[in-house]
Amino acid sequence: MIIVISLGGSVITPPEPNKLEMVAAAIKKVAKKNMVFVVVGGGRTAKEYIEIARGFGSNEVCCDLMGIDATKMNARLLISALSGSAYPEPPLDYRDAKKVMEPGKVIVMGGVSPGYTTDAVAAILAEYVGAGLLIKATSTDGVYDSDPKLNPGAKKFDKITPEQLIEIVIKTHMKAGSTSIMDPVAAKIIERSKIPTTIIDGNQPENILHAVSKKHNGTDVIESE
Ligand code: UTP
Repeated sequence: MIIVISLGGSVITPPEPNKLEMVAAAIKKVAKKNMVFVVVGGGRTAKEYIEIARGFGSNEVCCDLMGIDATKMNARLLISALSGSAYPEPPLDYRDAKKVMEPGKVIVMGGVSPGYTTDAVAAILAEYVGAGLLIKATSTDGVYDSDPKLNPGAKKFDKITPEQLIEIVIKTHMKAGSTSIMDPVAAKIIERSKIPTTIIDGNQPENILHAVSKKHNGTDVIESE
């Protein structure tokens, strides 16, 4: 199966060797039996640079471009952690990523163009390469009906339809570096492509394996029967 993982920058920044090793080990295990693409987020690095640049008056596209650079740096770091198991360069776009597809090699990339986030990149890539599963590994353990950090009574979904996901994320701000469970562009792509999607807590990297074996405790985004 082809699997695309959207690895939240929040999981791997600030960079920490042991954590990166654990994430890389989980990805390598999945890659033994599957063709794996990983799209890496910018995390704290992106947010810090964007905030300072915005303070200097940079427009949102300039901030997005800075965020993209951070995602690429994180992609290179994960490639280092994966050592020989990864294609050595982060592809610059979807076509390049598909071109270098090779059994046994994990392909790791960052952002592509301003206006969206690496969630959307992962969803577009998943549609383009015909992935059977899209995994979002982030710092929340699934999709809630409201932000669990702000509302302790928030209810977590085991399962949700793409339409419900869109309803939840559509209120998200479109600004560079903004945080939400998923980018609305990604949610719309998931809706149109019908890619089975699983959202898990990436801070426990073994959850990536659990998402593949369907024994996870995150949220599945699937069409209702
Ligand atoms: P992320 O994908 O990391 O955004 O890209 P995020 O939602 O902050 O996710 P986490 O925290 O990693 O989970 C960082 C920023 O880079 C820009 C956007 O400004 C985004 O917020 N970006 C990224 C783009 O403009 N285009 C891309 O293709 C990717």
